[in-house]
Amino acid sequence: MKQKRLWGTVLLFGCITLSMATLAWSDGWEWGENDEHEGRGFMQQTAGVPPVINKAYKNECSACHFAYPAGFLPKRSWIKMMATLDDHFGENAELDDETMHEITTYLSSYAADQAPNRFSRSITRSIADKAVPLRITETNYFLREHREIPKRMVQGNIKVRSFSNCLSCHTGAERGSFDEDSVSIPGYGRWED
Ligand code: HEC
Ligand code: HEC
Repeated sequence: MKQKRLWGTVLLFGCITLSMATLAWSDGWEWGENDEHEGRGFMQQTAGVPPVINKAYKNECSACHFAYPAGFLPKRSWIKMMATLDDHFGENAELDDETMHEITTYLSSYAADQAPNRFSRSITRSIADKAVPLRITETNYFLREHREIPKRMVQGNIKVRSFSNCLSCHTGAERGSFDEDSVSIPGYGRWED
């Protein structure tokens, strides 16, 4: 019995080490210029959501807004969104089939319910099993995390306008960092809780 548990622990630890190494590796590989992103060790990496690494997604889905990290919506949400791009929040964001499939696969495999980081876990928990939200900003987790921010800093702020503009406040968003420490609200500066 004891022996079994020991092996279980060894195996689990091995898996964790391996997945961390994979993260660190894919990170360095994708960004290429590691020296430009110094200080972003893989510990910090696993604490945030994985940054966007798919080129097609980055190209096609950041034309009108920041390319939202896949880890902020569950797989079922991305699948529904990708299937309804002809009416995407009132815009036509349709893609050719091949690109559409590539992006759907990417978003699905890095979706909130597939990712182990703490943000993704909290988001997944905050969404009802049957719900298929298309907005990150309407999930209970998002609403809870942002409930203390007054309207004048968002809707009433010409440099922000909408919570959908993550990048205007989360200065580290493009590298997957949404830490409170890296928040700076335009016109108001750092957020002190
Ligand atoms: C033609 C412009 C356009 C393109 C291209 C586009 N979007 Fe959007 N997207 C919008 C608009 C407009 C909104 C609503 C923004 C708002 O309410 O401020 C939006 C909102 C979103 C939201 C919800 C943000 C929130 O409030 O939580 C997600 C997620 C999203 N888009 C994903 C995608 C994906 C994935 C792609 C690529 C397949 C994509 N978008 C391409 C225009 C676009
Ligand atoms: C108006 C500025 C603003 C915008 C826009 C904004 N946020 Fe935030 N966000 C904040 C602030 C401020 C906090 C910290 C709130 C607190 O501690 O009370 C925060 C907290 C968070 C947290 C929790 C961080 C933690 O360490 O627990 C996440 C995750 C997050 N935001 C994601 C997003 C995403 C994704 C978007 C875009 C869809 C977004 N935010 C848009 C200001 C903003």
